[in-house]
Amino acid sequence: LSSEKGRPLSDRAVAFDPFEGPYQVDPAEALRWARDDAPVFYSPKLGYWVVSRHDDIKAVFRDNLTFSPRIALEKMTPVSGEAQEALASYGYAMNRTLVNEDEPAHMERRRALLDHFLPENLLPRRERVRTLVRERMDALVDKGRADLVQEMLWEVPLTVALDFLGVPEDDMETLRRFSVAHTVNTWGRPTPEQQLEVAHSVGRFWQYAGKVLEKMRAEPDGPGWMHQAIRRNAEMPEVVTDSYLHSMMMAIIVAAHETTAHASANMFRTLLTHRDAWDDVCADPSLIPNAVEECLRYAGSVVAWRREATRPVELGGVRLPQGAKLLMVTASANQDDRHFEEAARFDIYRDNAVDHLTFGYGSHQCMGKNIARMEMRVFLEEFTRRLPHLRLEEQELTYLPNTSFRGPDQLWVKWDPARNPERTEP
Ligand code: HEM
Repeated sequence: LSSEKGRPLSDRAVAFDPFEGPYQVDPAEALRWARDDAPVFYSPKLGYWVVSRHDDIKAVFRDNLTFSPRIALEKMTPVSGEAQEALASYGYAMNRTLVNEDEPAHMERRRALLDHFLPENLLPRRERVRTLVRERMDALVDKGRADLVQEMLWEVPLTVALDFLGVPEDDMETLRRFSVAHTVNTWGRPTPEQQLEVAHSVGRFWQYAGKVLEKMRAEPDGPGWMHQAIRRNAEMPEVVTDSYLHSMMMAIIVAAHETTAHASANMFRTLLTHRDAWDDVCADPSLIPNAVEECLRYAGSVVAWRREATRPVELGGVRLPQGAKLLMVTASANQDDRHFEEAARFDIYRDNAVDHLTFGYGSHQCMGKNIARMEMRVFLEEFTRRLPHLRLEEQELTYLPNTSFRGPDQLWVKWDPARNPERTEP
């Protein structure tokens, strides 16, 4: 086998498979060989060029004209005819949103939709997050064990996301199932049978998004980001288009909650397996912001993102043809020793943790990053204060096989309810 440029491919490049094996266990470690020996390599199994170093990935993010984001939400696994028919039967027409829109349309739209994300507009949301977390903690604090994912970490971010968007709270379990289907559909490798099942869920999600949109249009002064987008759609329909609204309604429900839920689960897992760091945070809450940042670096919830070369270009010493599809493994960039000292070491005191690429970089950088950070901080503030003796249970963690979204399906923790400080020292 040889790459498109006729270079021989290494066995490792040929074997690279992000849907199983080492990448599913630990994507950063799985690409250590690539960072050292083949920072940009062609994966014949994927049909993608895999980029693994911090500098190269940052350079790609920085130049979104040469490296278009248009494939960011493309299906990683080609859809079977049957699944395509199923999707079509729901009128499925997922199109550009923000994350996969080219310039100049992207920037005009991003600017038109920016104000809800400004820090001064986010601050008032923090106490609402705290109330949600406290309510759920009250419900579980006497139990002594819990699956944090099930009982806290997906529902709070989903509630916060719907609040932020101005979408009326609905059947949360159904929305969660829709989101998982969307992730499998976009970044997974479903079997033909799964493809069909997923296509029906995604189709229903699409129709649900359409219905919510219609309901919200009937209430033009309503609160939240999606209501603002609806008003902008009326004022400047060529910038905030109809197609954008429907596609975004579906994509943002996933983008705003699954990412944060996974990042929070990864954070608890990481801190509880690095007990000194957990104890330090319990003793000194002022360490929380940097601890959150280090968790996003060391075990982020988005581990890879995509771009497409719009012209022939050189990257990391490799000539890429026009149309080359790139899988940038940001989890690998985040553990690149060329950028982070002893990058494989988890260190909440690291002074450049914030250089991680988990939120992307440049003109498309995650607009919700400060919402996600705020939620993760509140989770830590509340848990370290009320349950400092929290421990992980022995367990085998499982992950949904896909290239990009990473977080355990369950995270069992235990504690001694009698030692809950809020009870003994009210
Ligand atoms: C874009 C990650 C939470 C809204 C992105 C991108 C990544 C990302 C990797 C693409 C960046 C690029 O292309 O440079 C994450 C992670 C999160 C998170 C890891 C949680 C830990 C959120 C939340 C919201 C949100 C809570 C909204 C409430 C967006 C939007 C974009 C985006 C609107 C598109 C920005 C653009 O293309 O201009 N996010 N995200 N994200 N994210 Fe997030």
